[in-house]
Amino acid sequence: MFEIPPQLIDQLSRFGQQHVLDHWDHLDESQRHSLVSQLESIDFERIQALFQQYQQQADNVRDLTDLADLADLADLADLGPPNSIRLGQQNQQDESDQQHPPTADQAYAAGERLLRQGRVGVLVVAGGQGSRLGFDHPKGMYPIGPLSNRTLFEFVVDKLGGYERKYQTQIPLFVMTSPTVHDETIAYFKEHRFFDRKDRLQFFCQSTMPAVNDKTGKLLMQSEHELFLSPNGHGGMMEAMQTAGILDSCDQRQVDTLFYGQIDNPLSPTCSPTLLGYHALSNSQVTLQTIAKQSASDKTGNIVELDGRTQIIEYSEIPSKVAEQLDENGQLRLWAANIAVHVFQTSFLKTVMQSSTGLPYHFAHKSVSFMDQQRRVHTPESPNAIKFEQFIFDLLPLAEKTLTVEASREDVFAPVKNAPGAKDGTPQTSRDGICQLHRHWLQSAGCEVADDVLVEIHPDYAVDLPQIMNRDDLPGQITEDTYLQFPPHSPFTPR
Ligand code: UTP
Repeated sequence: MFEIPPQLIDQLSRFGQQHVLDHWDHLDESQRHSLVSQLESIDFERIQALFQQYQQQADNVRDLTDLADLADLADLADLGPPNSIRLGQQNQQDESDQQHPPTADQAYAAGERLLRQGRVGVLVVAGGQGSRLGFDHPKGMYPIGPLSNRTLFEFVVDKLGGYERKYQTQIPLFVMTSPTVHDETIAYFKEHRFFDRKDRLQFFCQSTMPAVNDKTGKLLMQSEHELFLSPNGHGGMMEAMQTAGILDSCDQRQVDTLFYGQIDNPLSPTCSPTLLGYHALSNSQVTLQTIAKQSASDKTGNIVELDGRTQIIEYSEIPSKVAEQLDENGQLRLWAANIAVHVFQTSFLKTVMQSSTGLPYHFAHKSVSFMDQQRRVHTPESPNAIKFEQFIFDLLPLAEKTLTVEASREDVFAPVKNAPGAKDGTPQTSRDGICQLHRHWLQSAGCEVADDVLVEIHPDYAVDLPQIMNRDDLPGQITEDTYLQFPPHSPFTPR
């Protein structure tokens, strides 16, 4: 029978984690092998250091009497709005003013050039567990098309197909998975013959981190022979990209611009020529698409500038008196909300990978089911565990040159976060957002759309507003639910 390697026993006792072997005598041969291989992949020293850091932070917060003290702690009063191009500036034309940013039309044309030259790749993170949505498959497989039932993955690949045809180009797609969703994601793509893009599609899998008891720092067991492991956050992308050689693939394809988006937003402006163009024309290392906060208490991350660097600070970390400050026009001073849409220069990502020790870990205090020493499974109702996660936005302060470009919420943001029935971020609010945007496109192009009908546009028919404006077969009127595909468009018939 397989026995525990002695050096592993030493390590477990050095870090006070011997309890993970409590059930060893009950395990069969293969369970023993799998537990040992999980344990051998854990960096115990790092987990211990992270837990100590968590405890220290928790003590600091307890010592503070109110949030105003937090403001002092981080000098939050010095926060300012980021370097940005606001919506109102994008259509002002003043050639004589050297300082004036490019117009949206100039940016669009520059973005089209990048796409035609094949210099753009797309990276989508899809490794999350989607626990709030409560869907028992990778979130990318969620059917979201209001009429088509297209999945979140199809929203990405269809849009890329639309741009590839429009610009006679190729756009490689990199999809980050995690061990939780990897196999099912690959099986899904395989079943769809990789959407005819196998030659320009690469999956890469992020790592996991164990969760620990919030009081003791002890590793939590999911079963007798398994640790509780979860994906290490979307920031795990950097390490996973390095392991999978994603930037080498970009180099081989002469891709120097990487669009980053998250799988759960079907309106993510994937490959938006305007955003890509602003990025290229400003020679920015990272460009962020943003939307204006709806109010000072919006529950979104704030894009801010501090000490000349762009950062994202969670809404919960900004005291209300700072969040509520107004500028000279009576608008919120910290107006920019993070929607996790970024464009990266690949050279910037390369520099970060070569020089940095990795992104920091954040601590999420969560409820995690676990098995105790008596082999009883507990499902606590209140948080009992610390999960360790890296966030992609910790890359931002590493960039010397960033730009934030505003878009309207309706054009770029309809995420699927929560299960049906929640107040926002549900599949229904997302479908409503898609219909509303496509209705707006049709109306802008002169088509009358009856109030009570649903409309959806497949990117083969038109990938964006400028393309719909150029279609000469646009219906003059839409009076029933209509899914515009190519060719030809037809009243909606379910798949
Ligand atoms: P969220 O933070 O909304 O998490 O992820 P989630 O896993 O989708 O949902 P919950 O919190 O469990 O309900 C935002 C984006 O980041 C990706 C997700 O797939 C989603 O596209 N993500 C998140 C990863 O790729 N890896 C992670 O470890 C976490």
